Amino acid sequence: MGFPVTRMRRLRISNVLREMLQATRISVNDFIYPLFVIEGEKIKNPVPSMPGVYQFSPDQLLFEVEKIVKAGLKSIILFGIPAKKDAIGSEAYAENGIVQKALRLIKEEFPDLVLITDVCLCEYTDHGHCGLIDNGRILNDPTLELLAKTAVSHAQAGADIVAPSDMMDGRVKAIREALDQKGFTDTLIMAYSAKYASSFYGPFRDAAGSAPQFGDRKTYQMDPASSLEQAILEARLDIEEGADMIMVKPALAYMDVIKKLKERFLCPMVSYNVSGEYAMIKAASEKGWLDEKAVVLELMTGLKRAGSDLIITYHALDIARWLQEV
Ligand code: PBG
Repeated sequence: MGFPVTRMRRLRISNVLREMLQATRISVNDFIYPLFVIEGEKIKNPVPSMPGVYQFSPDQLLFEVEKIVKAGLKSIILFGIPAKKDAIGSEAYAENGIVQKALRLIKEEFPDLVLITDVCLCEYTDHGHCGLIDNGRILNDPTLELLAKTAVSHAQAGADIVAPSDMMDGRVKAIREALDQKGFTDTLIMAYSAKYASSFYGPFRDAAGSAPQFGDRKTYQMDPASSLEQAILEARLDIEEGADMIMVKPALAYMDVIKKLKERFLCPMVSYNVSGEYAMIKAASEKGWLDEKAVVLELMTGLKRAGSDLIITYHALDIARWLQEV
């Protein structure tokens, strides 16, 4: 039965009807807000390539977290910028490291906020790679112990969820075993499972000062042109090793991966709408070429429809405020 009996436009005839028929809805509960914390005091450094994003010293971070909680957001993910870096990323797992300090402060003031930490070495190593190096090679197995130590020190300082982003093989297993051994059986692991060697991380590396000092990350992060099967295998291994949630990163150029993994696996699916994706929207909006609020909400709806249960995005605070307006 076709036209003129069937008219699809009838379904769109009024605002109320369109709202009733919405199948994808975003809520403030869907979003995780990334924050950069830097050693020092009274620091709020703007990140030039990410308008609206700052590096905060712990005291300033608390003010920001208060705004985040007031806006109704439930969760943040922390990235640390240490005062000093070395070959083995010591500050990543130091008891008084920057992330550990920030966690203790935030947990005390905002005990209900879900605290996630990025577990990786690249922000803490002088060479900027996510693992230990030997003769220009990024070593897998010796790195695992340091990642596990980092995760445990985050849990000890108050992290609810640890999120390994290094892409070493076997890290989820190493982290799960270390957490359990120390009694942190309730600490969740959100694994960056399908993390691609993307050109969209540029602004983040400005914000975190974590650009690799030689070479690139292509021997550990996934090739953007690799098969969907590789993404499935990565996710399956992470789940078998003990991941509670899996992640696809970046988000926008990888919506097929999000959809595929959501169909294949039963655990919560997280998408990371990364720094370069944020920078594009910000730049075009500043020029008046795009309506920022409208495009951001449209993109987030798309990420939900593709299968994201949770979305990490630098737009999260704006989104939370926009959702309060309506
Ligand atoms: C650390 C890490 C990176 C991002 C999150 N964790 C950078 C990288 O892998 O180079 C990127 C996030 C973003 O671009 O917003 N490994």
